[in-house]
Amino acid sequence: MEGYGKSILSWVKNNVAKGIAIMTDLKGFDRMFRLDGKVALITGGSRGLGLHTATAFLHAGAKKVFITARKTEGAEGIDQAVEKLNRLDGVTGVAVGVPANVSNEAEIIRLVEHVKKTEGKLDILVANAGATWGSKFEDAPDHSSAKILDLNVRGVFLLAQKFAPMLEAAGTRQDPSRIIIVSSTAGSNVPHVGDNGTIMYSVSKAAAHHLARNLAVELGPRNITTNTVAPGFFPSKLAAGLIDKLGGTAELEEANPRKRLGEPEDIAGVMVYLCTPAGSYINGNDINVDGGQILSAGRHSKL
Ligand SMILES: NC(=O)c1ccc[n+]([C@@H]2O[C@H](COP(=O)([O-])OP(=O)(O)OC[C@H]3O[C@@H](n4cnc5c(N)ncnc54)[C@H](OP(=O)(O)O)[C@@H]3O)[C@@H](O)[C@H]2O)c1
Repeated sequence: MEGYGKSILSWVKNNVAKGIAIMTDLKGFDRMFRLDGKVALITGGSRGLGLHTATAFLHAGAKKVFITARKTEGAEGIDQAVEKLNRLDGVTGVAVGVPANVSNEAEIIRLVEHVKKTEGKLDILVANAGATWGSKFEDAPDHSSAKILDLNVRGVFLLAQKFAPMLEAAGTRQDPSRIIIVSSTAGSNVPHVGDNGTIMYSVSKAAAHHLARNLAVELGPRNITTNTVAPGFFPSKLAAGLIDKLGGTAELEEANPRKRLGEPEDIAGVMVYLCTPAGSYINGNDINVDGGQILSAGRHSKL
């Protein structure tokens, strides 16, 4: 041990003599969780997890956040969301709404053209809009599978494909552009069969995971990283029906290792981490944001 201690000491002395820093020099640590100057686009940004993400990006300093959804008006439309986002305290960036159905190729192309024409660059693409279906296996109509796969898989592939040139133009080796696909823990386990089965939803989210892995390898060399964020239950319009059928919030909270459901800050934190310099070397990963619920899978399938 004495000899080992002496050799470390002489290594330190040598490096000091050569002027080599012994302390770690973390470049730009003050910007590690900042998005200053960045332009993001979030599909399904008018409510739920997409709106939480848009809010987080603006608080983290993003210059512009495009949000897209199908509805413009009403309590769930894009307009009210843009108004809320542009009233956030202490935020200098702006939110812009662009209506589009992102399961439709022509509308995705129109969306890309709009961003190109009005902003000219895109640093972050969050493919968050999603559709689900719950029923007995025998009762699931073919149109439910088509809707789910068109939005949750085909549309996400198209978004990545059509936005890739803009993302590539904005990315660098040290600071790549980011694609985040919002999948679900249902992409890794089989959470619901029986009366409230979500088989094709679960299949679509598994496909989203593997799409992200493929994109990570395809687009990584073009300075674009791709990851999935896989939420557990977060109260939202999409989740409300299933939460009720599974016994309600209190029962689901009790079954969760953290004794609660997801909250806006939980999504905000992981999105900011993945899209800021802190996450620049993360590529091709699925990050579960579920309080550890996936590890106790099966408790709700009895329903
Ligand atoms: N909440 C959860 O517990 C949970 C759990 C796991 C995964 N997720 C995933 O998280 C994502 C967001 O879900 P959420 O719970 O936040 O749902 P939500 O509150 O119902 O929001 C869905 C958003 O997507 C938009 N949208 C739906 N279809 C669209 C289309 N074809 N084109 C463009 N926008 C569309 C909706 O606006 P319009 O209706 O106006 O188009 C809305 O802005 C989904 O991918 C979902 O699968 C959610």
